[in-house]
Amino acid sequence: MIWKRKTRDEAGDIAPPEPNSALAPEAAAAASETDAASVQAEAPRATTVFSADIPAAGTPFAWPSSPAGEPESMLPRFIASASDDMETDATSELARRRLALRDALGASLPVTARETFAGRRDAMSALINAVEEQRVHVVIYGERGIGKTSLAHVFADTAREARYLVIYASCGTAANFSEMFRSILSRIPRIYHSSVLPNSPEGEKGGTFEPLLQPGPFGARELAEVLSGVVGTRVLVILDEYDRVVDVNFRREVAELIKNLSDRAARVQLIITGVALNLDELIGYAPSIRRNIAGLPMTPLAPGEVRELLRMGERAADIRFDKDALALITRMAGGSPYLVRLLGHQAGLSALNNRRDEVNYSDARTAVEKVIADWQASLPRRVQASLIREEARANWPLLVAAARAGSTADGWFTVDDVVTEMGGNVAPISVERDLKLFVNAIDLLERREGHGDPQFRFSYPGVSALLTMSAAMTQQRSAAPERRQ
Ligand SMILES: Nc1ncnc2c1ncn2[C@@H]1O[C@H](COP(=O)(O)OP(=O)(O)O)[C@@H](O)[C@H]1O
Ligand SMILES: [Mg+2]
Repeated sequence: MIWKRKTRDEAGDIAPPEPNSALAPEAAAAASETDAASVQAEAPRATTVFSADIPAAGTPFAWPSSPAGEPESMLPRFIASASDDMETDATSELARRRLALRDALGASLPVTARETFAGRRDAMSALINAVEEQRVHVVIYGERGIGKTSLAHVFADTAREARYLVIYASCGTAANFSEMFRSILSRIPRIYHSSVLPNSPEGEKGGTFEPLLQPGPFGARELAEVLSGVVGTRVLVILDEYDRVVDVNFRREVAELIKNLSDRAARVQLIITGVALNLDELIGYAPSIRRNIAGLPMTPLAPGEVRELLRMGERAADIRFDKDALALITRMAGGSPYLVRLLGHQAGLSALNNRRDEVNYSDARTAVEKVIADWQASLPRRVQASLIREEARANWPLLVAAARAGSTADGWFTVDDVVTEMGGNVAPISVERDLKLFVNAIDLLERREGHGDPQFRFSYPGVSALLTMSAAMTQQRSAAPERRQ
């Protein structure tokens, strides 16, 4: 069931960083993630692919330094006036385009409207089909930043148009089964319960399903009992960010709920977003639900979809990405809509700042470097220090292969995965020995024993993206030497 990114054929061709280099980062956005049960934009985990020259740890790499004694007039200023009526001169036109670009390609929020949602037609029709034709529960899974929350929102809108009652709930790490579902029931109008006759006082009072539950905590069985009373509509409950739930009991109850809802043929379906492991686990808890649950893997955006997304920025800010800029952004983003937006936004800004409508290769490259610098700034010093140690540099190809092997949604990989990424011609035993070095002596990896082979994972999530980017940058340079600047 586990969807895995394909082994990349670029496994060779990897150079360690210059001694004077540190590494780039993963998602700054990850750092801002909270444990609250709210929708947050996330950085992708190990999405792929790029890197740039990175200054040594210990230097204030992320901050452009300003010359000493710079006059006050050079200090940064706001781009636009806060008043509604903008002036019409060239500066305010530029400001307008910058803001329009940010609105079109800003990467801090999931998409909620169809007009700003690019591609994903196949995923959308698979989801609709699973819900409407197969009447199954769905787990949408894939790595962070791949677009699960956005798909869920746009799907919710589409389902509401077809008169489904859609309830969206975002799970936090502290999600509690009874609390969460009590709140969900409080959003289902009582008029949809079979016990309520049309025009009866209960229906007219505007009550909800919530009082149908006993006070205090309850389990999947009692909940399914209440939900099986739904008539006159179909209810879709979206449990977003399910992979963040820590409580094993919550996840077990959800499996039990799916089982009970299916057994009772209730008019309620769950749409869960998470990682592949969540699907495996649900089926592990309740094997009989296998035929009542569908897994929908979110795959990287195809190049045409990347183009479609960038076109939204083009239209909003009256710019145009040229062929080379498009190619670089497509390659560096590795199919992550999050990265396409981040890079497209920065590249577009670079062109606008240079008073150009055409976004070229050098704008795209500036964007890559800016994104890396920002991510790098978000890595803890401790992690940066580990990465520039001699042992890390000496084992660079191994670490890059490990990062690629770990570019699954949950980041865990085995020795065999790393051997595959290295082209298969290394001895597993020596790979395992070297990986262990980074578990014990250098705190870059963690290791766990389960059923089956031991698994490894980068202890700090940003690191694997950093390594894959670094390798891609090296490759980019050797593939296009004429581009060096
Ligand atoms: N189909 C899409 N079209 C345009 N932008 C998208 C699309 N899917 C995702 N995004 C953008 O990518 C970023 C991550 O998306 P999100 O839905 O939060 O991913 P996930 O839930 O998998 O972490 C957000 O900034 C979102 O706006
Ligand atoms: Mg999400």
